[in-house]
Amino acid sequence: MRITAVLLAAGQGTRMKSALPKVLHPVAGKPMLWHALEAIKRSTSEKPVVVVGHGADEVTKYLADSAQTVLQEPQLGTGHAVLQAESLLKNKTDLVVVCYSDMPLLRGETLQKLVDTQKKNSGPISLLTVIAEHPRGFGRIIRKTDGTVSAIVEEYVATAEQLQVKELNVGGYCFDANWLWDALQRIPKNPKKGEYYLTDTVELASKDGLSVQAMVMDDLEETIGINTRVHLSECDAAMRRRINQQHMLNGVTLIDPASSYIEIDVTIGMDTVIMPNTYLYGKTQIGQGNLIGPNSIIRDSKIGNRCKVLSSVMEGAVLEDDVDMGPFARLRKGAHLGNHVHMGNFGEVKDSYLADGVKMGHFSYIGNAQIGANTNIGAGTITCNYDGEKKHATEIGEDVFIGSDTMLVAPLKIGNGARTGAGAVVTKNVAEDTLVVGMPARAIRKLERKAKK
Ligand code: UD1
Ligand code: MG
Repeated sequence: MRITAVLLAAGQGTRMKSALPKVLHPVAGKPMLWHALEAIKRSTSEKPVVVVGHGADEVTKYLADSAQTVLQEPQLGTGHAVLQAESLLKNKTDLVVVCYSDMPLLRGETLQKLVDTQKKNSGPISLLTVIAEHPRGFGRIIRKTDGTVSAIVEEYVATAEQLQVKELNVGGYCFDANWLWDALQRIPKNPKKGEYYLTDTVELASKDGLSVQAMVMDDLEETIGINTRVHLSECDAAMRRRINQQHMLNGVTLIDPASSYIEIDVTIGMDTVIMPNTYLYGKTQIGQGNLIGPNSIIRDSKIGNRCKVLSSVMEGAVLEDDVDMGPFARLRKGAHLGNHVHMGNFGEVKDSYLADGVKMGHFSYIGNAQIGANTNIGAGTITCNYDGEKKHATEIGEDVFIGSDTMLVAPLKIGNGARTGAGAVVTKNVAEDTLVVGMPARAIRKLERKAKK
């Protein structure tokens, strides 16, 4: 059976008061529209159709080839919006799943159940409803005395009696396609707003004596739709709770879930502990047994196992295993710290590789550098990598001891086992096992390297 989703995303979202189209506002790091597309994936077999209107260019650009788009111009209501998809879908699908793209918490499982309900329905519509004390402006589900659904009445036209109805229209539908296209043509224009309401298809079906199935949802949270930034923050918090809960069930300890901000694509291994006020963004991957936070921000980075990241910032960086970092360290793009590296407070590393066992205790800047195993970077060391026009590389060998406050003026190579005196300004390459001192530093004697322990 061919099942296609039509996502409605043409509305203006006026109440968001934003230059960004509503459906592109992020929830847990991904646009609302992404969440809607994820949810429909499982229950449909064909490429979805997104109805665009306000902000059409931006929305279409975002969608790229993940969906087909159809323009609704002008926007004459939800029924009119679905009708725009007819030219793409007529005779090409058996069922049409319609969702609004501002409900990022709606689960794929729920839509799957809705589709299953419609497959068993002799009539043309199955829809999602919820019983709630607070109606949030939702349409009311009207049932006949025998319990069958006969209409959906929008709040602003409902009678006092209808307003008392606690069963609400969530905004998720599954239609028999052939019936739908014809019914959309029959929807009357709403006299007050001049729009064509998708919800009026329910009354049409009921009047034709056809069965409308209501699937009552029990998770109220799933039905939160976003109209304002207040709703946006509610949804974001709910989505975060959902993500955090999944990590905890997978064996991650979150000391304070409410202050752990973990975006949806982040992966975390077992026995890692996330301390409060930690932000894990983008495509970050974290291994097992790490201690992350408190107060850390990590974006698009990879962390091995048994590392400690205390009050630090990482962006596009890699830690291998047993790295100890912070407090107040910053790894920028292309920073790669090998096994057992120690990086203490107020250090910054960018586009550099620190091999296994490097120690960089305090106040250093390392950029465009390769540092060999077990080298010690003294406090206040700086790779002077930028001459005002270009970046230059620094290569430091293994077992090197860079004295405190050394300025390494790149391009520069320092051989294995070399040493710089405190305050050295190194402008020329340093040979292996050589001690350099002064400004600019010059060789003063040959060294004997200690045997490795
Ligand atoms: C709609 C339902 C209401 C339901 C509620 C749940 C109708 C008539 N009413 O009301 O019963 O309880 O959602 O949230 O459907 N859109 C278009 N083109 C248009 C108009 C809207 O694409 O011409 C899109 C919007 O971008 C939005 C969705 O359709 O994603 C719903 O529109 P909205 O105006 O938010 O409808 P509600 O008044 O919330
Ligand atoms: Mg709405």
